[in-house]
Amino acid sequence: MADDHFAERADELAELIAYHNRRYFELDDPEISDAEYDELVRELAKLEREHPEVVSGESPLRQVGGAPVGLFTEVRHRTPMMSLDKTASYEELLAWGKRMERYISGEVAFNCELKIDGLAMSLLYEGGRLVTAATRGNGEVGEDVTQNVATIDAVPGQLGPRAPESLEVRGEIYMTVRAFEELNRRQTETGGRTFINPRNAAAGSLRQKDPEVTASRELSFTAYQLGEVIGGPAFKYHHETIEWLKDLGFPVSPYEQTLGSLEEVDQYCQKWLERRHSIDFEIDGVVVKVDDLAQRRELGATSHAPRWAIAYKFPPEEKTTLLKEIMVSIGRTGKATPFAVLEPVIVGGARVGLATLHNEDQVRAKDVRPGDTVVVRRAGDVIPEVRGPVLPLRPKDLPLWSFPTTCPICGAPLQRLEGEADTYCINVDCPGQQVQRISHFASRGAMDIEGLGERTVYLFCKEGLLADVADIYSLDFERVQGYEGFGALSVANLAGAINASKSRPLANLLVGLSIRHLGSNGSQVLARAMGHMDRIIAAPEAEMAAIEGIGPVIAASISRFFSLPRNRQVVERLREAGLNFQGPGAPALEQTLAGMSVVVTGTLERWSREDAEAAIKSRGGKAPGSVSQKTTAVVVGSDPGGAKLARATELGVPQIDEGTFERLLETGSLS
Ligand code: IVH
Repeated sequence: MADDHFAERADELAELIAYHNRRYFELDDPEISDAEYDELVRELAKLEREHPEVVSGESPLRQVGGAPVGLFTEVRHRTPMMSLDKTASYEELLAWGKRMERYISGEVAFNCELKIDGLAMSLLYEGGRLVTAATRGNGEVGEDVTQNVATIDAVPGQLGPRAPESLEVRGEIYMTVRAFEELNRRQTETGGRTFINPRNAAAGSLRQKDPEVTASRELSFTAYQLGEVIGGPAFKYHHETIEWLKDLGFPVSPYEQTLGSLEEVDQYCQKWLERRHSIDFEIDGVVVKVDDLAQRRELGATSHAPRWAIAYKFPPEEKTTLLKEIMVSIGRTGKATPFAVLEPVIVGGARVGLATLHNEDQVRAKDVRPGDTVVVRRAGDVIPEVRGPVLPLRPKDLPLWSFPTTCPICGAPLQRLEGEADTYCINVDCPGQQVQRISHFASRGAMDIEGLGERTVYLFCKEGLLADVADIYSLDFERVQGYEGFGALSVANLAGAINASKSRPLANLLVGLSIRHLGSNGSQVLARAMGHMDRIIAAPEAEMAAIEGIGPVIAASISRFFSLPRNRQVVERLREAGLNFQGPGAPALEQTLAGMSVVVTGTLERWSREDAEAAIKSRGGKAPGSVSQKTTAVVVGSDPGGAKLARATELGVPQIDEGTFERLLETGSLS
């Protein structure tokens, strides 16, 4: 009974492994990640070890890879291209060391090489000329891709005079991350298919009928292993063979290291696990090899792998999972970003349930649809990303996804401007935007108000306590204290944090205002160059555009922001609340109007009302909306307000024109 169960599972695993071998080796289109594949192999290996009675003669564990698929002619390898046994821990490395002790004794030195995630290649040179380039295929027989490989710059076509009579070199063809991204960009632009990862892109580029296509793709090559050599020098160590290959003109890895113990090997693996993103190509582990070639001969090989080498595999950064739904989120500037709702998976060491899809064009280029099985990637601390669909697993007639035309939060129309990739909710009162804007204002990189995270902001907005960022400074704490989770202490803390935020640097305040295109760097540059919020408000667009680090796009956006009355009102309320408007660097404007109060009425020629009032305030003066006994002067433009003029006349307040106003700003004097 139990045996039946094990035999059934073994059959099932064998079938799965064979299927995925075919996808990987023959179709260059794997459906599952290497780690998921390895899991299947491990499970079958364990079953076979613990229940030898279930082992079938055709177990995939005794075959290597798949069979060639027919687009290219077959090549029988002179010596088989074997695969490598795998480990994923120090313990397993030590176990490998122990196993080797049965065959060799004495000191062992190890070569550590990065395991490049590309395609294994066998290159055959006769009389110094490249005559055959073959893929691994099933390990015995591969595909002849000589024509295509000959177009790759990194692969020498002709070796120098020191070339041996006959030479077989093994190495990896791969694509750098930069070349991969560039290729995908090009493919998106020309409507071609995009690739899921650099390995797929390298495989797809190599397995072309037309060598011209291969030539147009930027492929790299690294040699890592000497095959059969006739008429070459004798070597004692692997590292010597690599030196020699380098001298012959082959690219070899600069990261290779020969180490004296498995402890050091483990350190090398850990180091590269941490640094895997510091290099411009993808690696999925480290290949550890015995350096002494005589020891290698003693060790020999099993049916599928040499005993003298092992692959230390890194945890995968890609997994496949179900894309349940595509939704759209609204950001603080109104940007509508599509994102994938996934069946959660652990990838790159973290649970991923959501992943960004960036924008409409990206969704189209990747052609991902709700219901697809997709490849999800999470590399380092990079935001999880959906790489693309696994097309063979797509259910029949799965409908295309289309971008919504209205905001999912407020229902206002979504708009995509000509020539822009992003789509926006055009309603500035959209509650979705409000929550995002306010929580951004309170966030670490901006005003850093502890206790005012997105959830709290959402609650306060829903309760009508907050509608814009200025409301933070007149928050009704009595009402807050009535909400669940807000005790006297946390309310006091929140009040303290809000108060403390008033003295943050001007750059932080600028960041907090959510001015499109103006980030942290731009804000700092601007605060330093202008020295005060009022100068920024009053500055002509061209002046800001001329500041290094700002430029025309950001300057236009800043001008647009401050030209909107509602933004100006918010800024004025922030001023009244006592927020710091003073920047570092450039000295503040001379406070010529300190203690004065200047009223503006009517239309001036060179100043908008707002700019004139900002100029008064930036020089220390007050700019109230009505005339009183305290008013120093009334600036009178065309079509002035009758009431203001009458009151000024009544109180004997000086009435001045635009020119006098400008002199007043400069000198603080009316004469
Ligand atoms: S040596 C018998 N060295 O890993 C040893 N392989 O299963 C043959 N790989 O697909 C392999 N980097 O393409 C070796 N420095 C390296 C490697 C490397 C990547 C790949 C190889 C093959 C797989 C081994």
